[in-house]
Amino acid sequence: MVDPPIFPFARAAGAEPPAEFAKLRANNPISQVQLWDGSHPWLVTKHSDACSVLTDTRLSKQRQREGFPEMSAGGKAAAKNRPTFVDMDPPDHMRQRNMVAQAFTKEHIESKRPEIQATVNRCLDEMIKGGCKEPVDLVEKFALPVPSECIYSILGVPFEDVEYLNSMNAVRTNGSSTAAAAANANNDLLEYLGKLVDKRTEKPGTDLMSKLVVEQLKPSNIDRLDAVQISFLLLVAGNATMVNMIALGVVTLLEHPSQLEDLNRDPSLSKPFVEELCRYHTASALATRRVAKEDITLRGQLIKAGEGIIASNQSCNRDEEVFPDPDKFDLHRKRGSEEALGYGWGEHRCIAEWLARAELEAVFSTLFRKLPNLKLGIPHSEVAYTESTRDVGITKLPVVW
Ligand code: HEM
Repeated sequence: MVDPPIFPFARAAGAEPPAEFAKLRANNPISQVQLWDGSHPWLVTKHSDACSVLTDTRLSKQRQREGFPEMSAGGKAAAKNRPTFVDMDPPDHMRQRNMVAQAFTKEHIESKRPEIQATVNRCLDEMIKGGCKEPVDLVEKFALPVPSECIYSILGVPFEDVEYLNSMNAVRTNGSSTAAAAANANNDLLEYLGKLVDKRTEKPGTDLMSKLVVEQLKPSNIDRLDAVQISFLLLVAGNATMVNMIALGVVTLLEHPSQLEDLNRDPSLSKPFVEELCRYHTASALATRRVAKEDITLRGQLIKAGEGIIASNQSCNRDEEVFPDPDKFDLHRKRGSEEALGYGWGEHRCIAEWLARAELEAVFSTLFRKLPNLKLGIPHSEVAYTESTRDVGITKLPVVW
């Protein structure tokens, strides 16, 4: 028997999703793939099947469970750490998620829009102040500071520590750091957050970390390590994804000048633009993984207990049955009732979806209106996309205006 194809598949070029997905959707929508460790989880590529997978209570998100598909040796090692809600099943999952969920509801984020807009304006002014005699890296100067400052302010991380935390985070997530340097940066971040939990225990403020300490840690619903791990999760879970979505959004608009013109004429189009951006580019494409707790049958295919499943939201976002002409970027796209799966589906759906949308909407209703001449400072063919088997993103984006 031949081995299944190696996964993750490589993107053919730039930000285009791997070509294998379209073929599998057409011919073999539930198929086995081979991961780095030789395991053979099932890959689900159709929108309707992924929605079933992500709402099936016979499937588990517990990474310590035998057979859970891990994407790297580092991931496998990290799975041994104390789990947070992202790696829990009901009822523990919602119990812990609800300890922080209030800070991320649609209504609460609506009330935070002026603050988010002020952060975007401040980061943009800061970038503009430096001038662009030489091309400026938009990733470093704008795409990174915006989401970092937003989440730090929600958590209550002091602003003077932002630079230190960003540098630790960069070492932690930067693919070119050594494993030892990444592990050290991880530990430094955890230690930093531990000290901050202690400070908030002594003298609580009004931020989310203080709320967690007062409402959960003090009454012993969780212990100190849980408080640290939950804060860590919120600090790092979505930051790289946000940075990538901002940079990808800039490039996508420059590639579609008439849609950029439409957006500049009518900034309220930033909402449908962001909706389409999060369909077209799936910057968190490998998080939606599960393992079967018992035998299940999906589209006639038996998946046995202990076998892993990867529901590819990246493939689903280009499912032609749901999104006609799926490879076309169109902010004016007519939408049916089906939603894109960029933020996942079911109970584990991104807790910060509304925050992420609000940040992206503020960015794209502002950036090109303030800098109408913004363009790449390098040829388009030289844009530094992330490694082709990793989540789609851009590591460096020189621009001028
Ligand atoms: C455009 C930006 C973002 C995208 C595309 C994104 C995508 C996702 C996806 C696909 C999942 C589902 C994982 C699953 O089913 O297992 C998820 C979960 C999650 N995201 Fe995001 N995310 C983004 C921004 C953020 C931000 C800014 C934060 C932090 C404040 C965050 C925190 C989380 C957490 C904690 C979970 C786990 C939820 C749970 O298991 O209940 N995300 N995200």
